[in-house]
Amino acid sequence: MNTNIESILNEHRVFTPAATFSGQAHVKSMEDYEAIYQKSVADPESWWAEQAGHLHWQQPWNQILDWSNPPFAQWFLGGKINVAENCLDRHVTAGKGDRIALRWEGEPGDRRDITYSQLLEMVCRAANALKAHGVQAGDRVLIYMPMIPEAAAAMLACARIGAVHSVVFGGFSATAIKDRLEDSKATAIITADGGWRRGNVVPLKANVDEALTQYDGVHTVLVVKRCGNDVTMTEGRDRWWDEECAAVAANCPAEGFDAEHPLYILYTSGSTGKPKGILHTSGGYLTGAATTFRYIFDHQDSDVFWCTADVGWVTGHSYIVYGPMANGATQVMYEGAPNTPDWDRFWKIIADHKVTVFYTAPTAIRAFIKAGDQHVDKHDLSSLRLLGSVGEPINPEAWIWYHQKIGAGRCPIVDTWWQTETGAILISPIPGATPLKPGTATRPFFGIDAAILDETGQECGPNEGGKLVIRKPWPSMLRTLWGDPERFKATYWSEYEGIYLAGDGARRDEDGYFWIVGRLDDVLNVSGHRLGTAEVESALVSHPAVAEAAVVGRPDEIKGQGVVAFVTVKTGVPTSKELALELRNHVAKEIGAIAKPDDIRFAATLPKTRSGKIMRRLLKEIVSSGEVKGDVTTLEDFNAVASLQGKGDEE
Ligand code: PRX
Repeated sequence: MNTNIESILNEHRVFTPAATFSGQAHVKSMEDYEAIYQKSVADPESWWAEQAGHLHWQQPWNQILDWSNPPFAQWFLGGKINVAENCLDRHVTAGKGDRIALRWEGEPGDRRDITYSQLLEMVCRAANALKAHGVQAGDRVLIYMPMIPEAAAAMLACARIGAVHSVVFGGFSATAIKDRLEDSKATAIITADGGWRRGNVVPLKANVDEALTQYDGVHTVLVVKRCGNDVTMTEGRDRWWDEECAAVAANCPAEGFDAEHPLYILYTSGSTGKPKGILHTSGGYLTGAATTFRYIFDHQDSDVFWCTADVGWVTGHSYIVYGPMANGATQVMYEGAPNTPDWDRFWKIIADHKVTVFYTAPTAIRAFIKAGDQHVDKHDLSSLRLLGSVGEPINPEAWIWYHQKIGAGRCPIVDTWWQTETGAILISPIPGATPLKPGTATRPFFGIDAAILDETGQECGPNEGGKLVIRKPWPSMLRTLWGDPERFKATYWSEYEGIYLAGDGARRDEDGYFWIVGRLDDVLNVSGHRLGTAEVESALVSHPAVAEAAVVGRPDEIKGQGVVAFVTVKTGVPTSKELALELRNHVAKEIGAIAKPDDIRFAATLPKTRSGKIMRRLLKEIVSSGEVKGDVTTLEDFNAVASLQGKGDEE
């Protein structure tokens, strides 16, 4: 961590937005940013209410914010809104029905352009199909889909009828689906036969079937035909999406729901083994997603926006579905892998669709750097005007490459800091205004009171490291953890009273720019995705050969962090390369390929404190430097460390 801080401290380059960009932007200068920011934090409620006013409300709110029972916020009380109506009908009514909402490209190269009118009809039919099968407002619907237009339509169909969606990333396993079904008690599922990934079919429906052998609360599974692979359809439960959608009316009235009506649950990792169901609600969430999209991506009518995230992550929720669509944006949506058929696929898509605003993750950028500039040079990227980054700190080297090679030095980069919990971007440059420094998400968004506090709750001085917090509620904040309000309070609100603890370590430089240093808890960031060490550990321990496991991260050139697992096996079990491979695959099966350990290290014992707590800090030191230099006075068994050192390269 220390070397990271130092290399960042040495980063002094500043890039100011070009006059040609600023001239046409929503916010044209730092003076304008300061003026809006000061006004917005002096009275955040009024500022956010003004933004919420850009949406269509079926009934106006009578109270902007109720914060009388922290940490349970309620925004826009008394207001009634339909999120899907805001994302679709509103644009059609305004005469923009023929505008393309999605320029979709499948991995094999097939394409579909879908207008806002067409998407509205898809959503209405799907909503009616859900209703026809008894899905009602408040019911949970699990969505497990490839990146096809129907994935967005399924989410919006739930929103239209007030059903609460719970999207599960298509790379997750049957076990992950089952866990999320059990936690959310979902009664319906929308999935597809399969999805294309690196030339192979991901067997989505088969994974759902496997999950449903262990959970019997689902009455309906709607299956989109995507790959045409063989699937088993269970009589009375499973139905084809296209047949069901064809059998119902093309119109579905958009009922207004309370502003605080639940919109979705999205599971994310925490420091215990059980994923947390982050709950977002309707009016405030949409206000946050729509407002940040407009300002941070400087949305203009002529833009073609492309966010490369999957809808299974919060980035796909807020910046593919809700933020862009609430603004009537035209977007590219791509189904497959960045290196299929070759490493130039993304650049070809940008050139073919004349993408103007491109939003991706540092891990992807590092992989592109490694693949070589020749893939970029083949394509004309001159349509681009703005670039974005999300998911982890972007290292200055990657930032400079992104700026020079992809943006030709012409495009500002918005390094956007936020979380599944925050619902929308909270710290980011405003592209026409903020002077950029590679490696920092710069300043808080309007209405956001971000700060860095020390252990005693005092605000840290310039460049002093501390804990990143948000001191005032904001509309798109999570409302609770599904079914677990106590954990919600304990995780985010117990450190400082009435203040949101993000879980990230950070510092603020002399210009007030926020530099994120990394997580403070046992959460890894692998390829921009959150992974709890405890989740991987419990997956390992569920294997019959394993007695105990401890998982730590190590720096990884492409993924940001790699996963290293220290494993002690049960007495009498022989360790081998084969067992290590088996354990890696076991984790992939239990959670998903993303969690697969890069390295399994067998150990006779794990270093523990006298109270029995595994000393992860020592394990981290061992994987990053091969030895332990830190304080070991609380260590129970010195031999445990001695035997682990020097095992650096062993699998
Ligand atoms: O540690 C921060 C990191 O990702 C975490 C949130 O992860 P997740 O909920 O999966 O959402 C990722 C996409 C919004 C944060 O606590 N993180 C995210 N964006 C950045 C970042 N760290 C530094 N800079 C960023 N721009």
